[in-house]
Amino acid sequence: MSLDLNLDKILIIDFGSQFTQLIARRIREFGVFSELISHKKVKSSQIKSNVKGIIFSGGPLNVYQLTSNTFDKKILNLGIPILGICFGHQILSKFNGGKVKKSKYREFGLANIYKKNNSVLIEGFFNRNKTKKVWMSHADQVSKLPKTFKVIASSKNSKFTIVESKTKKFFGVQFHPEVTHTENGKKIIYNFIFQICKIKKNWSAKNQKTQLIKQVREQVGFNKVICALSGGVDSSVVAQLLNKAIGKKLYCIFVNTGLLRKNEEKQVVKTFKKKLKINLIYVNAEKEFLRKLKNISDPEKKRKIIGNLFIKIFEHYAKKIKDVKFLAQGTLYPDVIESKSVTGSQTSKIKSHHNVGGLPKRMKLKLVEPLKFLFKDEVRKLGLELNLDKKIISRHPFPGPGLAIRMPGIINYEKIKILKEADFYFIQSLKDYGLYDKIWQAYAALLPVKTVGVMGDNRTYEYLCLLRAITSEDGMTADYYDFKKSFMQNISNKIVNNIKGINRVVYDVTSKPPSTIELE
Ligand code: XMP
Repeated sequence: MSLDLNLDKILIIDFGSQFTQLIARRIREFGVFSELISHKKVKSSQIKSNVKGIIFSGGPLNVYQLTSNTFDKKILNLGIPILGICFGHQILSKFNGGKVKKSKYREFGLANIYKKNNSVLIEGFFNRNKTKKVWMSHADQVSKLPKTFKVIASSKNSKFTIVESKTKKFFGVQFHPEVTHTENGKKIIYNFIFQICKIKKNWSAKNQKTQLIKQVREQVGFNKVICALSGGVDSSVVAQLLNKAIGKKLYCIFVNTGLLRKNEEKQVVKTFKKKLKINLIYVNAEKEFLRKLKNISDPEKKRKIIGNLFIKIFEHYAKKIKDVKFLAQGTLYPDVIESKSVTGSQTSKIKSHHNVGGLPKRMKLKLVEPLKFLFKDEVRKLGLELNLDKKIISRHPFPGPGLAIRMPGIINYEKIKILKEADFYFIQSLKDYGLYDKIWQAYAALLPVKTVGVMGDNRTYEYLCLLRAITSEDGMTADYYDFKKSFMQNISNKIVNNIKGINRVVYDVTSKPPSTIELE
């Protein structure tokens, strides 16, 4: 969906810092629209009058690696205020006649900085004793300040920690105001966007809703749209947004793979068909999936079989709806921004994630991706604004291949039945103890080993159940959740006492990396 959001915005030029997305999020948290663009892609001629301020992000490069091929310096002549952060601060100084070289003392981690002069950028940032703890991460530093710049603050090892141009609205900070370790760092961003760029608040779930509904209507007109509904947060929000925008022109297809959580299919049908009155096609393909997965234990084979069959089934049902022109997808902003490609590094493929990616081309469909400017937390707020139940909005992620990848070894009805029950007890306990929302993702898995136990006076020989619960920001890294002993005892007893087929429970305490969140 080409959503050129014609809103006033702060443009963040991404030089590859791991924190670039955080800058965008901080600005949006202040209720202002912000967008990211790679430094290689941005052209001064395309920067329109709705860009009220520009931020140069940090990055792993050194200033001498930037040439006119990799960055359009004319951006400096547009008369738009610029804030340079870390590496962005160094190039801003260099482009204005300053010098940058390797620091004698590299600064990583917390550093104290001292106020030297007043500036609008630091209004309300320093406290009375004129120092602040900030978070640094740099090896190079500005060694000579441009003639037109003045120093606002310094640290012990870098004299030019906060600087300001005397002639233009250019500002530079050597540290990262966007990270929470920097005390009061948000204030710098606040001052830049509101006091210096003078942008007005324009970004809230309420106006996103109105804007996105209008844009979906403009894009699809009177045409039909199909959507693969999984019941997860993203596809649920897309479905409800399109429901509000185009009503019965939307057709959602929900495939029951037989590998869903207990009662999931009933809940999806109840919520979307009965309550929200969405056109929902429910496909029960349990038998087909299990037939194809029979005797398969290799994780990648499982994923491929499930992915391909899903697409085949989806395509079959979608074709039954005549004259469909669009496919709606819950693509989010982190999926489309290119910050990872700045250094050209490629992450190796660990697991093949299944999605309906190949479908638009095969079926000659155009894409509708109304969430592609939103971060996950924004999607959740939008969902609430669209009257989706909080229970849907706060759900943990659930993988497309479902329970198949939480059951190492072969898959059969008996194991699925046992696992569904174990997972149900675990998730329900998390809710009962008020822990569900503190945990990013949790699940039960069934390991392909049997162990000996004793119940009553009888020997048992049954499966081993593994519980996993992690905290995470985005699923890229994760740590295990530290439960109290009483909770562990309680859930272990519940599972073993109530589920025939499990006689032992273990808790996974590995982080990601080195493990992954799912088992396969
Ligand atoms: P891993 O196991 O790679 O998981 O650490 C990271 C996140 O991705 C989810 N996941 C998937 N989601 N299709 C999906 O839609 C998949 O094939 C898939 N595999 C893993 C996983 O649940 C976790 O949230």
